[in-house]
Amino acid sequence: MYNKGPIKIGVLFSETGVTSMIGRSQFQGTLLAVEEINEGGGIDGRELVPIVYDAQSSPVLYASLAEQLIIQDKVNVIFGCYMSSSRKAVLPIVEKWDKLLFYPTLYEGFEFSSNIIYTGAAPNQNSVQLAEFMTSNFGASVYLIGSDYIYPYESNRIMSDLVLQRSNSQRIGEQYVPLNACQKDFTPIMKDIRNKSPDFIFSTVVGDSTANLYRAYAESGFNSKTMPIASLTTSESEISQMGVEIAIGHITAATYFQSINSLINKKFINSLYKKYNKECIPNLYVEAAYFQMHMYANAYRQAGSDEIGKLLPSLLGSEFIAPQGRVRIDPTNHHTSHYPRIGIANSKGQFTIVREANRPVQPDPYLVTHSLGDWAAVLSTVEL
Ligand code: ACM
Repeated sequence: MYNKGPIKIGVLFSETGVTSMIGRSQFQGTLLAVEEINEGGGIDGRELVPIVYDAQSSPVLYASLAEQLIIQDKVNVIFGCYMSSSRKAVLPIVEKWDKLLFYPTLYEGFEFSSNIIYTGAAPNQNSVQLAEFMTSNFGASVYLIGSDYIYPYESNRIMSDLVLQRSNSQRIGEQYVPLNACQKDFTPIMKDIRNKSPDFIFSTVVGDSTANLYRAYAESGFNSKTMPIASLTTSESEISQMGVEIAIGHITAATYFQSINSLINKKFINSLYKKYNKECIPNLYVEAAYFQMHMYANAYRQAGSDEIGKLLPSLLGSEFIAPQGRVRIDPTNHHTSHYPRIGIANSKGQFTIVREANRPVQPDPYLVTHSLGDWAAVLSTVEL
């Protein structure tokens, strides 16, 4: 079938460790796209061959395996990383060897590397919309809870700044828990929340401890209708892990939800279910991992190479019709245009989409031009 040698690519997610549930999602999205590309004849008659390592949710391992992929396996491009701490660990490696990392995860922004393509949302594509929605519908006193690493610190800072633009706003608590926090680690925090009674909680807790936070909330008898947890990271996968009943009413801002009602999304979900025998939960991480691989392949076809100097001119400014809508890699900042959405977890383990941009929002990773009304012009709304 292939008339020329294979093209090797590095795939570096976590199949084990505290963030493995999402690491596996990203791996599944990656492999589905690779399969589709290869079924279509590969790239210029060459098979795409992933070299896969398990970074075990460890930033140190991410760095050493990235270097192994580059030096030993001789890949030009790596697809990988969930936690920002892992991206920060891989960044100096790809810069040192002048290779490229595709990063399919929302993150805290305030970064640019000419050796990274950022295909998850920047804060002006999720935090701004979430702050606007929460303060309009629940009030402007926020209690922040995060896992103990860079994304939560920075994302909480951004959320605080956004909320504090409102009148009568207050940041009434900010707490951090270990990445492997168990349910009882949240007990004193729930007591504090009861005493301080915020309008909403903003969670930047990631990984397996997400379920423990939402369970601790439910056991404390709080009501998601009046004081919900808002998040940028809690997806359909975390809901499945915590149990649907516990998630109902909580809110996530994301650029993709499984419940997007479009033909292309239905086709995407069917392909995932077919390949993984339903052992896959479509979520924002699967979607970004999937579309970034297709964008890479399209750019390779145009450039005839994935050496960074040749690939980037074809990749930057390129577009792709992704399950969330048409996305584009911004040539000036290497981030992606996205469709912000707000979803409320429902009794089916899905998100009911209540706000949705009807055209893409350009990435502004340094939050230079945003305001809380950013998406007013591009909004479609469902009555709450
Ligand atoms: C994250 O660490 N970027 C979720």
